[in-house]
Amino acid sequence: MTRPKCETVRLIKRRDLKNDYFSFTFAPFSAADKCRPGQFVHLKLPAGEVYFRRAFSVASVETSCGDLELIVKVVGRGTRILAALRRGDATNLLGPLGQPFKLPRRRERVVIVAGGVGFPPLLFLAQKLIDRGHDPKHILFFYGGRSRSDIIERSRIKKLGVDLRIATEDGTLGEQGLVTKPVKTFLQKYGDNCRIFACGPEGMLKAVNELGLALHVPGQLSLEAPMPCGIGVCLGCVVPLTAGGHARVCCDGPVFQIGEVAL
Ligand SMILES: Cc1cc2nc3c(=O)[nH]c(=O)nc-3n(C[C@H](O)[C@H](O)[C@H](O)COP(=O)(O)OP(=O)(O)OC[C@H]3O[C@@H](n4cnc5c(N)ncnc54)[C@H](O)[C@@H]3O)c2cc1C
Ligand code: FES
Repeated sequence: MTRPKCETVRLIKRRDLKNDYFSFTFAPFSAADKCRPGQFVHLKLPAGEVYFRRAFSVASVETSCGDLELIVKVVGRGTRILAALRRGDATNLLGPLGQPFKLPRRRERVVIVAGGVGFPPLLFLAQKLIDRGHDPKHILFFYGGRSRSDIIERSRIKKLGVDLRIATEDGTLGEQGLVTKPVKTFLQKYGDNCRIFACGPEGMLKAVNELGLALHVPGQLSLEAPMPCGIGVCLGCVVPLTAGGHARVCCDGPVFQIGEVAL
């Protein structure tokens, strides 16, 4: 695993994706080419404003120029401060941190399950798989949210050529209901030779975990937890394991196998 870098970077691109979502591209980050889907960076917000760094999954990288993109939903004080950054502003990044997704074999069918702001690491994963020669038609990209405003970057996902299937709880886009409903229907029919990759709210991850176990479909889940240090020291991020004992989400995860964590 690459040693994380701690570097000052500048915001070079800021896109308002509407409905409280933003895309931020920082550069130059010398470890951009070392970032793997599922890994995250720990970002320091402007001095004195908030104490803890904030964790964000890597959404994309441009390795030739050290660009690193994060996609962020503004939910509280830290992300509001981040959203107020302007082009040229400096910040400090620590990363890449955590264990990445283990990539599937090329002939396996990939079932991505993204819920709300769990979407960024899965966008990076889909892009990486396609870059490595995975047939985009064999990548099912299930994407769920409460409403159509939670489903961002649709044209970008479609451009990848993956099989995008949307579900919203209020039915304003795609199938009505929880995203795990069409996932279940799909896995019941075509579960053989599939591998699941999921990131999203706790309830969704719990449901995907149960589905994987019940239908014997292997896969990985990317978890979130409070992350004071991000490097395995403070134990602020521990989760219980099904086999007993605990794991640190920041360095043993955030990616865990289905069935590994007691959700
Ligand atoms: C591995 C990982 C990847 C993530 N990826 C993304 C992503 O790609 N996009 C995205 O939008 N969100 C992502 N998140 C969530 C993001 O880190 C939180 O949404 C964000 O930190 C909370 O928003 P805020 O800072 O505005 O909230 P605030 O309201 O400022 O903070 C929320 C609460 O959490 C506490 N807190 C904040 N940071 C820490 C910390 N580091 N340690 C302990 N307590 C803390 C605060 O004190 C407060 O009580 C990720 C989280 C993790 C763990
Ligand atoms: S955040 Fe400190 S041990 Fe994980």
